[in-house]
Amino acid sequence: MATVAIQTTLVAKIAQLTAVRHGPRFDPARHLVGDLPAKKKSMKDLGFPEDIGVSPLAVSEPFQLFTVEAVEIMREEILNVPEKYKFKSNIARSQLRGYAKDCAPFTYAAWTHPETLALISKIAEVELVPVMDYEVAHINFSSKSKADAQQELKSHQEELRIYEDEGISGCREVVKTPIVGWHTDSYPFVCVLMMSDVRGMVGGETAIRTAEGKIIKMRGPSQGYAVVMQGRYTTHQAMRALGAQERITAVTSFRPKSALLRDDSELRTVRGVSDINELYYGFAEYRLQLLKELLEHEIERVKVAHRVGEGFGTVKHKLFLERVIDFVEQSNRELVEQSQVRKGFVEKVDLPDAAIDC
Ligand SMILES: [Fe+2]
Repeated sequence: MATVAIQTTLVAKIAQLTAVRHGPRFDPARHLVGDLPAKKKSMKDLGFPEDIGVSPLAVSEPFQLFTVEAVEIMREEILNVPEKYKFKSNIARSQLRGYAKDCAPFTYAAWTHPETLALISKIAEVELVPVMDYEVAHINFSSKSKADAQQELKSHQEELRIYEDEGISGCREVVKTPIVGWHTDSYPFVCVLMMSDVRGMVGGETAIRTAEGKIIKMRGPSQGYAVVMQGRYTTHQAMRALGAQERITAVTSFRPKSALLRDDSELRTVRGVSDINELYYGFAEYRLQLLKELLEHEIERVKVAHRVGEGFGTVKHKLFLERVIDFVEQSNRELVEQSQVRKGFVEKVDLPDAAIDC
């Protein structure tokens, strides 16, 4: 009997592996839509200097990134992700992290395909790559019963009526109980893809603070649509989504590809919800690669200057050395000793609520 059971398990395992291996392949002609957002807000639009981040863009409006068929395949792939990739924290009930490269080949290929990266880079106005494999297609789940979802909408409508009765309707709305409070992201850019059908949902926008402390709201994406935001340099929060039974988003974080551009990435908001070994490996490896490219670039620069008979540019080289020291210190600061990492805890940097100007 035991032998039969083992054989059955093995056959099931092989079938599962074969399905993953022979599942649909990502084909940009079929699965990538490639639309550009109709509108974008720049850092300047928000009142910040244009060079505050690594590109002039603050946030895009939603654009269709992948076809509904592609999203359905991605949804299939996240159904059977093993436990070790599941995380929860004080601010998120259910997440999948670091699973894509290991067990979601279509999802991984979709987010790392050169055509996908070219599109996202075009919108971001700087050439981007995913920060590391561990940050490809992080999933946020939220689900509720049909009755709860309907009750939410009803309460919201009642609340709107009260506002109207008191003459404070329209755009003067207060940001209440957001999913995540006001914060800046750990990584320079983020692309958030909606994987659920959210027709009938109210809310779900991204609220962003301007330099003057005002708040603007950007519409949330519908299924297959995404937004790109320079989240490291904009203080923002996700507003509550009402009336949706299920809300699944896939979030991939990006950094500039070029080692010559700043990489201010931190691990502040992800340390507590990650497999630390994998996160630290990914972070250390890509930061060392950037450092290597920076050093090679400087070696070439001093060699060329010497070859053409220029005197040694001491000031320039010392500036470079300072930059390298800052870069290495940043890596060192972020790799917090593993015993000091509080599992399941994400630090909240909350500002008080404020009225929204639409
Ligand atoms: Fe964020």
